[in-house]
This record gives sequence, structure tokens and C-alpha cells, in this order.
Amino acid sequence: MIAIAPAGGADVAAIDALLRSSFARAEEADLVRDLCVAGDMVLMLAAHDEETGALVGTVAFSRMDVAVAGKPIAAVALAPVAVAAAHRQQGVAEALIQAGLDRLEQEGVVLCFVLGDPAFYARFGFDADFARNFASPYAGDYLMALPLQGGLMPCGVREHARHASPFEALSQP
Ligand SMILES: CC(C)(COP(=O)(O)OP(=O)(O)OC[C@H]1O[C@@H](n2cnc3c(N)ncnc32)[C@H](O)[C@@H]1OP(=O)(O)O)[C@@H](O)C(=O)NCCC(=O)NCCS
Repeated sequence: MIAIAPAGGADVAAIDALLRSSFARAEEADLVRDLCVAGDMVLMLAAHDEETGALVGTVAFSRMDVAVAGKPIAAVALAPVAVAAAHRQQGVAEALIQAGLDRLEQEGVVLCFVLGDPAFYARFGFDADFARNFASPYAGDYLMALPLQGGLMPCGVREHARHASPFEALSQP
């Protein structure tokens, strides 16, 4: 069985190692470190194997600067998500992401953005149309958003959707 909970200090080294082994480059691990150092991390969840206690997955949500109709909107970016190779295709990433979205909804977050494969993220309700017309360097079909409060998008002119500054260090998102 897998247990999902907010990541703690004891998880930091294992999360770093998981990110470094899950991605072909070090940029995602560096991104998570930099988001934490900058105070931009809103929520990090860790999935542990209940039998062994080993970390098997993680997901991060970081603060964004989003405005609609001249008003700031409480918004986060989902990135990155990683699951240890031996535990993939068992729904761990899906459970981590859904647990994170549920917590963020309860905390009053209005919008969650993600940059990724629409075929994967559509299952949570992410849609490129919700992210359309926000000014973002990532604008396009792979930038999706999910309204968390009753599925309602804030009304009005969509202005900017800025990721936290550590994202600027990514060579490619
Ligand atoms: C992507 C990843 C997190 C999925 O973890 P997982 O626990 O196996 O995912 P789940 O079991 O919850 O869901 C599996 C689904 O994810 C899809 N998937 C797996 N890797 C994917 C990828 N790189 N891009 C898009 N979809 C992917 C599978 O096709 C499967 O879809 P299906 O349910 O329609 O068959 C895992 O493969 C991983 O850590 N990859 C390396 C890091 C990475 O690429 N992270 C994503 C970008 S931040």
C-alpha cells in the first residue's frame, strides 16, 4: 500500500534523488530546490511504500502570479511529478496529483496550471481552454489549467499567468 502525505524534512534527500533519477537532466531537481529556497513552494506531497517506508513518488505545487480583470487570483503550478520506476503504471502519480488538488481546493486555491501532456492531465479536468489568453511564455496547447472552486473560472479579461522565478532557469519546461 502507498501512503500520501505532505513531504517533510526527512524526505528532502530522497525527493532530490528521485527527481535526479527520474529525469534525464538535473533541472527538475534543481527547480524543486530553488522553489523551496525562494519560498515559492505551496505544497509538496510524498508517496511512501507503507511496507518498506521508501519514497516512491512526489508532486510539487508552487505559487504563481495570476491576474484576471485586474485582480490577483490564488493560483499554483503543478510541477514536477515523479514516481520511482518500479512503482509506475500503478496509479501513484494520479493519486498524488488528485490528493494535491483536493488539498489545494480546500485551502481556497482558485486555479492550478500545468504544462504537460493533455492526454494525461485531461483525466483531472485540466484543459488548455482554461489557460487560453493568459500571457505566459508557455502559452499553447500544452499549458492547461483547472479551476478548483466548483469548476468555475474567474470571470473577466485574463491577464498574466506567471510561474515563480525559478522556472526561468529551465532550458525547456
Ligand atoms: C509520468 C510519471 C510521473 C507517471 O507516473 P505513474 O505513477 O506511472 O502514473 P500513473 O500510474 O498514475 O498513470 C499512468 C498514466 O500516465 C501516463 N504517462 C506515463 N508517463 C507519461 C509521460 N511522460 N507523459 C504523459 N503521460 C505519461 C501513462 O500513459 C498512463 O496513462 P493511462 O492511465 O492512460 O494508461 C512517471 O512515469 C515518471 O515519473 N516519469 C518520469 C518523470 C516525468 O516525466 N514526469 C512528468 C513530467 S513533470
